[in-house]
Amino acid sequence: GQVEKGGHKHWMSKEIAEQPSVLADVLAHYLPGGQLTFPGDALDFTGIDRVVMVACGTGFYSCFVAKYWLETLARIPVEVDVASEFRYREPPLSERTLAIFVSQSGETADTLAAMRFAAGKCRIASVVNVAQSTIARESDLALPILAGREISVASTKAFTCQLMVLALMAIKAASDRGTLTQDALKGRIAALSSLPALVSQALAVGPQINDLAQELSEAHDILFLGRGAMYPLALEGALKLKELSYIHAEGYASGELKHGPIALIDSHVPVIVMAPSDALFDKTISNMQEVMARGGKVLLVTDAAGAEMAGHGCWGVIRMPEADPMFAPVLYAIPAQQIAYHTAIAKGTDVDQPRNLAKSVTVE
Ligand code: G6P
Repeated sequence: GQVEKGGHKHWMSKEIAEQPSVLADVLAHYLPGGQLTFPGDALDFTGIDRVVMVACGTGFYSCFVAKYWLETLARIPVEVDVASEFRYREPPLSERTLAIFVSQSGETADTLAAMRFAAGKCRIASVVNVAQSTIARESDLALPILAGREISVASTKAFTCQLMVLALMAIKAASDRGTLTQDALKGRIAALSSLPALVSQALAVGPQINDLAQELSEAHDILFLGRGAMYPLALEGALKLKELSYIHAEGYASGELKHGPIALIDSHVPVIVMAPSDALFDKTISNMQEVMARGGKVLLVTDAAGAEMAGHGCWGVIRMPEADPMFAPVLYAIPAQQIAYHTAIAKGTDVDQPRNLAKSVTVE
């Protein structure tokens, strides 16, 4: 009943609402007293020349966001793949490779099989929610995401907690490899530390998204666009929406729109643009204007400055608080989750238990 869900109608809405507090738990665990701390000092990037990241579903998109962080902040090459593809192409691995496996449950069969393929060939870390899981047990280093039990099939708080742990890993990598100055490191740590409060502010857009949901629920196709680290978030937004509402949704890199999917655009296709006002903003906005010129219905998710610059003529504008653009995917995950949640409710689908999906998939 509603009581065990803390007054929420669905587990998903409870889990969305828990994010400020679980993200603060992650910070308290890995940044006690503001000092970056990994268990047993076991995470060391000094001897590493390449990172491979492997997961399924939402965890894969966490990896994809983290690729931007690790490459930009720590200047380390990162490859990401879905687990069901990774091992079959027999990727070369060496002792200087760190393989990171991300899994909420720690039991996903594809991810476990990929990890067993890598075992003995390179160093293996896992980023897991269930600390006693098989994936956690079999990895050299298991980093907990501390999201607490996630019941709704569609992942929400586990996603943002994965991102937080991976962001902290990227900062550790930058520190080990000397790619950021002490001041820059401090600045990034401060930016991460401010996220729980910003996420809590972002949650306030729920009612506004609820108002847009009826119209979204009538669409047959919805596109999500993003650039830079917001591109994988666009993929996650589309995944969440299709999982919950059964509406066909696709995430695309904003700049790639003109190379194909723009052919789909007409007044029946809502296009959700996830764009903090960062260095890439102007380019993303010109991609958005290409959509508007073809009658596309744009929902712009941006900050106050972005809304001021580009909100005009959009079907909807959702305002996020100002954040370090590098870590904006953590913040913009909130409206992405709420879009999926409210659209599913408007359609009348089963939010916590979507058809054909399982929380944890233990077959390959
Ligand atoms: C299933 C779930 C997804 C999840 C994926 C990977 O498909 O429905 O929400 O992202 O498995 O699960 P894992 O537990 O490995 O993160």
